[in-house]
Amino acid sequence: MQYRNLGKTNERLSAIGLGCMGMNFAYGPADDKENIATLEKALDLGINFWDTADMYGNGANEELISKVLVPNREKIFIATKFGFRFKDGVAGHSGAANTFFDGSPAWIKIAVEQSLRRLRIDTIDLYYAHRVDPNVPIEETVGAMADLVKEGKVRYIGLSEASPASIIKANTIHPIAALQSEYSLLARDVEGEVLKTTRELQISLIPYAPLARGLFSNVLDLNSLAEDDFRRTLPRSHGEHAENNARLVADFALLAKDKNCTPAQLALTWVLAQGDDIIPIPGTKRRKYLEENAGAVEIKLTDQELALIDAIAAKYPNIGARYSEGAMAMVNH
Ligand SMILES: NC(=O)c1ccc[n+]([C@@H]2O[C@H](COP(=O)([O-])OP(=O)(O)OC[C@H]3O[C@@H](n4cnc5c(N)ncnc54)[C@H](OP(=O)(O)O)[C@@H]3O)[C@@H](O)[C@H]2O)c1
Repeated sequence: MQYRNLGKTNERLSAIGLGCMGMNFAYGPADDKENIATLEKALDLGINFWDTADMYGNGANEELISKVLVPNREKIFIATKFGFRFKDGVAGHSGAANTFFDGSPAWIKIAVEQSLRRLRIDTIDLYYAHRVDPNVPIEETVGAMADLVKEGKVRYIGLSEASPASIIKANTIHPIAALQSEYSLLARDVEGEVLKTTRELQISLIPYAPLARGLFSNVLDLNSLAEDDFRRTLPRSHGEHAENNARLVADFALLAKDKNCTPAQLALTWVLAQGDDIIPIPGTKRRKYLEENAGAVEIKLTDQELALIDAIAAKYPNIGARYSEGAMAMVNH
């Protein structure tokens, strides 16, 4: 494995992290035996940067991870997130009618205790506001997060899907170590102002969904997703967008074949090539995919190949929105 620094800190994080969400939330059925084996395999591969959130399965994801985290605490840099809440206590996705966002200091105090209890640890390495709450000044949210650092409950703080203006304001209250936002060849919103801001402030960009939620595998069958699979809610899973993206990914897979790698590896290599300040966290619940994804750090892209990849993206522009309207309304505050 190769390692990259978290923001301006000396923390060395695996250049390929592990997104744990799909292990029991959003992406259909999973098997806890294979989940645990995947977490253990991550340790073998030197993948030390694990990502979860309190909303994933309404706490169940943190509880699952704790089983491997607790006996290996020193080997893992654990990131979790707070803010999404459920009106009826039943876990839903970020754009669902029963989901709302709460970035208030009062909620942060409660949320952190719940995450610490479920993870069964004393300190969270990286604690993100899962979104910026448009109804709470960002200075108040980050002020409360900074209090958690003073209390020793959290080591570093991060934001997710925040606007450049919020990142700048937040960073005046407490250093922001990381911004976690969606980034892949199919979701390039962060290019431009967001990346310019994180680079000026030496904040790492942590791309989530770097495989476009599995599309870059070129084997994801959108027609056979489980009924409750979150990807059914995405505009890009349907109609002309789904067709456009299938063609895009098929061309991308041809390039991967020329490179002797899988399309998923090529997608991760492309993200890694965008800068040393970028640490993607591909999600998987299988050892096989984890191993494959770890291999992406060995692949190098020439300028000519990067241009070819851009040309493929330009050829198929009708990719569709990366979120439903409801979920999209929650980003970039
Ligand atoms: N901050 C936020 O708002 C936010 C939002 C979404 C996600 N996240 C975090 O980011 C992490 C990663 O994002 P994501 O999981 O949504 O999307 P992703 O990493 O783009 O894709 C995950 C999907 O790709 C499949 N996959 C992974 N490696 C593969 C390979 N080598 N070959 C074939 N298929 C492969 C997985 O299959 P299997 O599941 O079958 O292994 C899963 O369906 C999440 O786990 C979560 O921790 C954060």
